[in-house]
Amino acid sequence: MKTVHVRLGERSYDINVGSNTLANLASVLSDLSLSKKGALITDSNVFPHFGKKILDHLTDNGFDLSLIEIPAGEPSKAIETATGIWKKMLELKLDRRSFLLTLGGGVVGDLGGFVASTYLRGIPFVQIPTTLLAQVDSSVGGKTGINLPEGKNLVGAFYQPRSVQIDLDVLKTLPEREFKAGIAEIIKYGIIWDHAFLNFLDKNMEALLNLETEPLTTAIAKSCEIKAMVVEMDEKELGMRAVLNYGHTFGHAYEAAEGYKDLRHGEAIAVGMVAAAKLSHKMGLCKIDEVNAIEQLIQKAGLLTQVKGLSVENVRKHMNVDKKVQDGKLKFILLEKIGKVAQRTDVPEDLLNEVIQESLNG
Ligand SMILES: NC(=O)c1ccc[n+]([C@@H]2O[C@H](COP(=O)([O-])OP(=O)(O)OC[C@H]3O[C@@H](n4cnc5c(N)ncnc54)[C@H](O)[C@@H]3O)[C@@H](O)[C@H]2O)c1
Ligand SMILES: [Zn+2]
Repeated sequence: MKTVHVRLGERSYDINVGSNTLANLASVLSDLSLSKKGALITDSNVFPHFGKKILDHLTDNGFDLSLIEIPAGEPSKAIETATGIWKKMLELKLDRRSFLLTLGGGVVGDLGGFVASTYLRGIPFVQIPTTLLAQVDSSVGGKTGINLPEGKNLVGAFYQPRSVQIDLDVLKTLPEREFKAGIAEIIKYGIIWDHAFLNFLDKNMEALLNLETEPLTTAIAKSCEIKAMVVEMDEKELGMRAVLNYGHTFGHAYEAAEGYKDLRHGEAIAVGMVAAAKLSHKMGLCKIDEVNAIEQLIQKAGLLTQVKGLSVENVRKHMNVDKKVQDGKLKFILLEKIGKVAQRTDVPEDLLNEVIQESLNG
């Protein structure tokens, strides 16, 4: 098992990563000095896999844990679901000392974290992320929230968990497509921060796709470590944290242009990371070898480097309404070299359109 310590003063906490870590959940919770009363929030896909086991394990160890199950899927990340959970928690007589456990992907984590941050002005919560994306991204950094009909993640809070428990074994039931989408975010950490880590991913990609414990523990822990380091420098996203958006100005635009129907977030980011690398090269920032290395690694992970069925105009339209537009200028995180990125607002229109065109296929 590896432990990543997130240093945020009195809000510091540990992320434990390894195989079968959930077998120690009761003692982890006891070490946090939480009360024995709490609720487990999970979704309808995840509960049948691991929910019952966790409830039994904690009950056997003296915890009084109630189950709150929500329908699986992004539409649950809404105020109506949050209201339902707040009311259920009141019925259960959860008080300010009670705790929440969030067991699921980014939807459960973001929603559950938001509920924890607001119920009785905030109660402790522990994240058990069960998608690879949630393990390396959404469960780290304290962003919680819900969507509005007007857009994603428009209401929320920065609220840190008391601990994050990452168990590799839960990934065995995760659909392959979800797993690969998570790999895209792992590749992102290598690109923005750590050339040696990118080389490690290149060497071990097959083992990672086969869920081999050792390389997967290393890849997840390293990703959490890089994200934690960036968050420690910039918890409230005022500057530095923007590097985590590498590939995302493009990626979000592909997702929005496609109407959030089929494309997974990580799949859109994979295409976006290649586009951002190409743009960086066209602007004279990085070498073509580095663009090729990124493209090849993404392909090795079984991810596509182009999206189907979109037009440049449509992608541009959605790019312009993205929240990364500042003072009327689009912000891009561009590559100087692998392991080093910089924020730029001076991207020439023609080069931007050129790389978007190259990222579209049919
Ligand atoms: N807070 C942040 O910093 C942050 C960062 C990135 C993404 N997000 C948010 O995360 C969400 C996406 O997260 P996601 O990709 O994990 O989606 P998700 O939570 O919808 O999970 C994807 C699917 O996998 C299922 N699932 C989860 N774990 C499983 C398992 N172990 N076995 C089988 N099925 C399983 C879920 O039920 C769901 O159907 C979005 O709402 C996004 O905005 C937040
Ligand atoms: Zn992302």
